[in-house]
Order: sequence, then structure tokens, then C-alpha cells
Amino acid sequence: MIGVFDSGFGGLTVLSALIKRLPQYNYVYFGDSVRAPYGEKPEEIIYRFTCVGVDFLMKKGCKLVILACNTASANALRRIQQEWLPINYPERRVLGVVVPALEAIAEQIKEKDKPLIGVIGSRATIKSKVYEKEIKKLLKKPGRIFSQACPLLVPLIEEGWLGREETRTILKYYLSPLKNKKIQYLVPACTHYSILLVMIKKMLDKQTKIIDIPDEVSKKLEIYLNKHSKFAAKLIKNKEYSFYTSGDKQRFKKIGEKFLAIKIKNIENVILD
Ligand code: DGL
Repeated sequence: MIGVFDSGFGGLTVLSALIKRLPQYNYVYFGDSVRAPYGEKPEEIIYRFTCVGVDFLMKKGCKLVILACNTASANALRRIQQEWLPINYPERRVLGVVVPALEAIAEQIKEKDKPLIGVIGSRATIKSKVYEKEIKKLLKKPGRIFSQACPLLVPLIEEGWLGREETRTILKYYLSPLKNKKIQYLVPACTHYSILLVMIKKMLDKQTKIIDIPDEVSKKLEIYLNKHSKFAAKLIKNKEYSFYTSGDKQRFKKIGEKFLAIKIKNIENVILD
């Protein structure tokens, strides 16, 4: 089974892309809605909550867990891979969304290029400077990153205020520091922003390409599983998808179906310590 972890239901955008590209696998999704938003929490808390969520998925039998949540990928992934996983589940894997997003940029540019990259995300993602750190590992000349925290977007999306003028105004406000900077790539580094891509595109300079994180994560996972075929063989392939939330089941289903665009059937409530 492949586990998908998120702070809530935004990670369903990633699950959706995974199911589209790799429908044969069994997926278990856990959204920690009761403790969301993670984006406003300190790093240590995000790390602890993420460990609890990943542990839950591992105990369900997941051999591989994807941290769909940008905030968790930014603030917990490295420590989970280096400290937590080797002690608790040395044979299993936890992967995130930051590197696939940046690899998509690295693949599009020439070796000597210094790309101008915009990153928008939660306060904790931007504060972590993970994109600045990771791009240095991927490119000879890392270029420049312009980052912008957009804390009001998640609650607006969760309230279903997508078409409202208020959402347009707030988005425009957040994107304005990124305009006229000749930004070549924008990374919408938050699970929820996939839903705003069309609006974001219209508000940016024409040459700015937007990185579709869920799609990139699914592409990279496919490559990873092809490369590690013995590991991939351990993953169950029955096309079964199950969902767990620490929050309200009905709300998860209602909002989640908008993100996932499929019916959420097997959903259970869990209480975690
Ligand atoms: N899932 C989070 C992310 O991708 C957004 C919601 C939250 O702050 O918990 O950063």
C-alpha cells in the first residue's frame, strides 16, 4: 500500500494525480484535519504531528508514504528520513513534494541558466527556506528564489470561496510582489493552491510557468517505482483506496470530493495521540 499524508484534505490533490498515473496501487490517505492548519505551527510541532501521522499509515501496512503536505515536507521530511525512519521502519520509505517540484524546473533549464523562481506557500513552508536549500543541491547556479507566504488562501479555499471577489483580491495582493520580477517558474507550494492554478496563471507575467506539483510528484513516483522494482513489488495492487481523518468525517467527505473529483467511500474517523 502507498500512504498519503496531509494535514487535512488538500493532499487529495496529490492523491488524485497519483491515482490518475498509477491507479493499480492500493492507497491509504490520512488527513490530520483536527490539528490543521500545520502552516501556522512551529517546526518541532509539525515534525511531531507528521511522525504520528506517518506512523499511523505505516501501522496500516504502508511500505511507502508520500508527504503530500508542503508544510510537512518542508519542516519534517529530512528529519523523518534521517532520524525517525531508520529507527522505526528501516525498510520503508517516506518521500515529499519539494524535490519533485524543483526537479521539474531543473529538467527544463540549461546547465548555466540561473532561473528566477517564485514560491508561494504557508508561513511555515516559506519560513523553512526549504526551496532555497534544495535548489542549491540540484543546480550548479541556483538562481534566485522570491518567496511569499499566503496564509489566508487555505481558509478561503476550504470555505469554498473560490469564485468570490474577496479571494481574487487577496490572491492578487499576495502575488503582487512577484510581478514584474521576470519570474520564470512559480511553485504553488501548498496542497490547496492546485485548485487556484487558473486564477494564479492569469495574475502573473506571461512568461511565468507554473509547476503542477501533484503531477510532478506522480511522475517522479512512477520513475522511482520503476527504478526500485523489488520495492515496488511489495506494494499491493488492488486499486483500493481508503481514507482516514482525525477531523469531522462528513466535512472531510464534502470538501474532499471537490479536491479528489471521485467519490470518497471508505472513510473512517481516527483519534491519534
Ligand atoms: N497542507 C498544507 C500545505 O500543503 C496546507 C494546509 C495547512 O496549513 O495545514 O502546506
